[in-house]
Amino acid sequence: MALLFEPFELKALQLKNRIMMSPMCQYSVWDEDGAPNAWHEVHYVSRAVGGVGLVMIEMTDVVPDGRITVNDLGIWSDQQIPAFQRIIDQVHVYGAKVGIQIAHAGRKADSPSLYPEAPSAIRFSEQYRVPRAMNGDEVKGLVDAFAAGARRAVAAGVDTLELHGAHGYLIHQFMSPLSNHRDDEWGEPTRFGVAVIQAVKSEMPSTMPLMMRLSATEYDPQGYSFEQLVEMARVFHRHGVDMFDISSGGNAPVVPDRIYPGYHVPYGAKIRESLGVPVIAVGILEDPSLAESVLQQGQADIIALARGLLRDPYWPNTAAMALDGTVQVPKQYYRAFKKRFLG
Ligand SMILES: Cc1cc2nc3c(=O)[nH]c(=O)nc-3n(C[C@H](O)[C@H](O)[C@H](O)COP(=O)(O)O)c2cc1C
Repeated sequence: MALLFEPFELKALQLKNRIMMSPMCQYSVWDEDGAPNAWHEVHYVSRAVGGVGLVMIEMTDVVPDGRITVNDLGIWSDQQIPAFQRIIDQVHVYGAKVGIQIAHAGRKADSPSLYPEAPSAIRFSEQYRVPRAMNGDEVKGLVDAFAAGARRAVAAGVDTLELHGAHGYLIHQFMSPLSNHRDDEWGEPTRFGVAVIQAVKSEMPSTMPLMMRLSATEYDPQGYSFEQLVEMARVFHRHGVDMFDISSGGNAPVVPDRIYPGYHVPYGAKIRESLGVPVIAVGILEDPSLAESVLQQGQADIIALARGLLRDPYWPNTAAMALDGTVQVPKQYYRAFKKRFLG
């Protein structure tokens, strides 16, 4: 059987295969209350029906000003729990596990009614506002907000949590010399991330794995180097991150010269090897043979897909047929598949 369809286990998390729906902001909370609605339910449950092993719910913000837009998901109030719970329960019905990517946008808060706050008063680009630099108490308050978000996610029934430490959002802002010029204790690049890790872990069952997304490179010579990023990941791992999800960029208005299938894979493979931790690979991996080869070569443990799953919510079945695997669809859909693919 293809490795893509082998089960994966990490602490108490048991996945039926190694396919993850990558977190994707939908900007679709129309009444601005942060709670998921019917759109989110269809969006996530349909990928569970489509056969993914793990659904990672999009960037979900721990305080209202931590949103990119007022249409983002949020997890700052107990009133938001039931709406998440409904979706999580439905995803479970179709055999997938669920995580929520918890986050804070920091200086990238963009809607005019939101107030960007950040480690330092440095804007992302000229198109963005200059954020307010937080004082030490405000930083501690956000660490507590991450913990409260984790508590709510656990109450809603998640199987895992992912910290968004990539793409130029708050945790990443603290990690980078491009955005953190503080001279207090929070100026140390891993200090905020470690505080958040410790805080969320205190709200998670000890058997629940914690994942963290990081940007391997900032595409800016003034940013951190990959070697520095590996050392930061090592610190985060020591404080309790069980698995890394390796992406890139987002903290400088620079785009890579070239992107191509699997462009993040070597970074994740290096982290996997140096730290001895499982990693998630992401980035144009929707060619089933490429996804399978990344796993077979031991470069990653899970394959995450974003745009590929927007185009084809049934991608796991497409991949199963391409790799001669077993299709995993609800009985109602059996007539669409040849017997040999139904196992
Ligand atoms: C519509 C859309 C929304 C996204 N939102 C998020 C997000 O909420 N959190 C995140 O870490 N990455 C986000 N991403 C990045 C994806 O998770 C993924 O890393 C990226 O698209 C590369 O994977 P792909 O080539 O399979 O699309 C988003 C991507 C898309 C296309």
